[in-house]
Amino acid sequence: MEIGLVALLRAAWIAGTLPILVASIPSPRLRSFYQALLRFAKRGKIMQSSSHKLTVPQRFFCHFYVVAVVWTTLLLVITWFYAYRMEPPVSEPSLYSSIASHLAGGSTIFTFHRSRSTTAEHRRMVWQSVFLLLLMETQVLRRLFETIYVFKYSPSARMHIFGYLTGLFFYTAAPLSLCSSCAPEVFKFAANWLVEFIVKGKNRMSVTEFDTWAFVSPLIKSRWHLWIGAAIFLWGWLHQRRCHAILGSLRDDTEEVEGYFIPSGDWFTYVSSPHYLAEIVIYAGLLVASGASDLTIWLLFGFVVSNLVFAAAETQRWYVRKFDNYPSGRFAIFPFIY
Ligand SMILES: NC(=O)c1ccc[n+]([C@@H]2O[C@H](COP(=O)([O-])OP(=O)(O)OC[C@H]3O[C@@H](n4cnc5c(N)ncnc54)[C@H](OP(=O)(O)O)[C@@H]3O)[C@@H](O)[C@H]2O)c1
Repeated sequence: MEIGLVALLRAAWIAGTLPILVASIPSPRLRSFYQALLRFAKRGKIMQSSSHKLTVPQRFFCHFYVVAVVWTTLLLVITWFYAYRMEPPVSEPSLYSSIASHLAGGSTIFTFHRSRSTTAEHRRMVWQSVFLLLLMETQVLRRLFETIYVFKYSPSARMHIFGYLTGLFFYTAAPLSLCSSCAPEVFKFAANWLVEFIVKGKNRMSVTEFDTWAFVSPLIKSRWHLWIGAAIFLWGWLHQRRCHAILGSLRDDTEEVEGYFIPSGDWFTYVSSPHYLAEIVIYAGLLVASGASDLTIWLLFGFVVSNLVFAAAETQRWYVRKFDNYPSGRFAIFPFIY
């Protein structure tokens, strides 16, 4: 199961990234492929087609973050609880636990404590997943808030249904990728617990001592790369919040609910899509926090970069076409580079 999940996630990120990379090759022979991909990827201001066929409103972006918040919270809670339960010693398994485990088709919490998984290195890996999911949670919570309260989506802004489904997939697979190395055992633990709960009933479940310090101390004592990654993540997070506030305020003093303007301030001084740049910084922070040794997270990062660079290039072309007075020194996404 472990290999299955990881392999599936990796295959999905490669399948998402490859077409974007191929379409980005500046060759006349790939022109029609590029146009086809662009049709699926376009949204909002760069989707100018009057046809609404196979499109949904761009404000449906908030669905991504509803899914992301529910799913990330669930993964975070069970992974955190699992990490906590790995720490203290446990008593012999009861008959109920054995039955429950048997029904769930896996080892009991007892055997899990005495398996190879009790090594310090393994525990560290599980706590690292908790840390990454905590960062992801702060990102998706803010994004949910912004899609509801900060952005003022124009009533005519649309996105292709393919882009919509890709977004839903992204926010299911991305949190899972951050904890893919321990997800199978975490799911097994949750299944065991659930079966035990059903077999024993609430009143006969063993009570877990709740020690707040033991719940957070392994996070505080995390390795240096986690804190460096968190600092990079926070840097991107703060700038994305500011850039989104700027975009959200562009229609504040105007009656034009469909109007587009030249944004300025913060990273807009350097690039046309600073919110995409900030997103890349955020995922770079997650990559560094993971120790940059997990191929699944590298592939997730590769997808985010290629997807946003592709969208930023199109956005840049749109701004230059739309505004005669567009700042000529403003790059698409990477200051002084592209
Ligand atoms: N992780 C990923 O792979 C991924 C993929 C996609 C997006 N995202 C993130 O999601 C966030 C939003 O992305 P998005 O593509 O929806 O952003 P966007 O197209 O720039 O739109 C964001 C909001 O700002 C408005 N807006 C944009 N430019 C404007 C202008 N010049 N004048 C007036 N209003 C303007 C849009 O209006 P309209 O409603 O009229 O369009 C929309 O309400 C970004 O931070 C991005 O990084 C991440």
